Amino acid sequence: MKVLKNKFVNIDNSDVESVLNALNRKKLSGTAAIVREYEEDLAPFFQSKFALACNSGTGAIHLALIALNVTSGDEVIVPPTAPTMTVLPIVALRAKLVFADITSPNNFGFSIEDLRKKITSRTKAIITVPMWGYPIEMDDVVEIGQSKNIPIVEDCSQAHGTKTNQKYLGTYGDVGIFSTHDRKLVCTGEGAYILTNNAELNERMQEIRCFGRVIREKPELEKYKGQFGVQFGLNFKINALGAALGRTQLAKLNDKIKARTKNANYLKKGLSGIRWIEEIPVRINDFPNYYSLVLHVHPELNSAVPIAEYLSERNIISDTYDYNYQPLYKMPLFKSDDVCPNAEMLCKSIITLPTHEGLKLEELDYMIAAITDYASRV
Ligand SMILES: Cc1ncc(COP(=O)(O)O)c(C=O)c1O
Repeated sequence: MKVLKNKFVNIDNSDVESVLNALNRKKLSGTAAIVREYEEDLAPFFQSKFALACNSGTGAIHLALIALNVTSGDEVIVPPTAPTMTVLPIVALRAKLVFADITSPNNFGFSIEDLRKKITSRTKAIITVPMWGYPIEMDDVVEIGQSKNIPIVEDCSQAHGTKTNQKYLGTYGDVGIFSTHDRKLVCTGEGAYILTNNAELNERMQEIRCFGRVIREKPELEKYKGQFGVQFGLNFKINALGAALGRTQLAKLNDKIKARTKNANYLKKGLSGIRWIEEIPVRINDFPNYYSLVLHVHPELNSAVPIAEYLSERNIISDTYDYNYQPLYKMPLFKSDDVCPNAEMLCKSIITLPTHEGLKLEELDYMIAAITDYASRV
């Protein structure tokens, strides 16, 4: 049996043709027209005013935080259940990571009570991270952000096309970030896109993406229009080939979500007889994209780690096992005095199963049989 994990690069003729066409246009850099064309596909797809394509998810978060003026000594609040990539840009900016707990051991949304407690006069941004494509409650977080004037950044790298209450995640806050790395549902190898409805922020991010080159129409910048060396920026541009691939990948997003949802439903049905394992809660108006299926192991088993190990010996790799999933503040680089009991519980009580559209029926059956076999031994 081949290794079953959350990785499938879905490339067909439409992708190949799109990249070949881009090559033939002989404009390969991030200022090629195809980048704008990709952005013109992205914004209406998500019903967002603006979209900016970038060279990585980590870069896109870094870029957004620079645009939001996050700097040394500022605080940025994150859930400890986020991956390292979400928070590395905060470290790069020498800002302080502050961890607020999640609502419960089976949901990735912020505990509003803890979030409120963690806000100080130095809080410069709040980052939400819906893991494995599962929707989280956004209305309360947005309300807090608006009432305290703190921008909300949604790291939706794993949540392309995920919706809650008929609205795409990534369009609730001030900025939505979507990595388009190989494993993501819109895949350009390396890359990302950012969504925002804020015109000023959009232009700031365009400037920072391209070395700080001035584009904003502001009286104080008027004499510098088009110039470099006036304001800070880096190079966060995607290249033309990535944009070409992004266009055809986006066109397939809904079909991918349908196929993954079907696979997730098949797995859930096959595992429904096992009392101590179930999908984390999905509310009536939630539409996960099924980046992976997340299963919560009942507390009576104490931990999901043994089952993740058992499955890995059978070539079924849970992301939690692959990445040694743990609260970020337990890692040396992100040490903090914050303690988040729900996050600690969640990290050790879930496993993920692959659901991607490349899986065959016998592979889904193999996963069901392996977990059923484990269940017969505990
Ligand atoms: C939630 C999340 N944030 C950020 C990233 C970083 O994206 P990238 O690998 O494109 O830098 C990833 C994926 O790697 C991710 O899953």
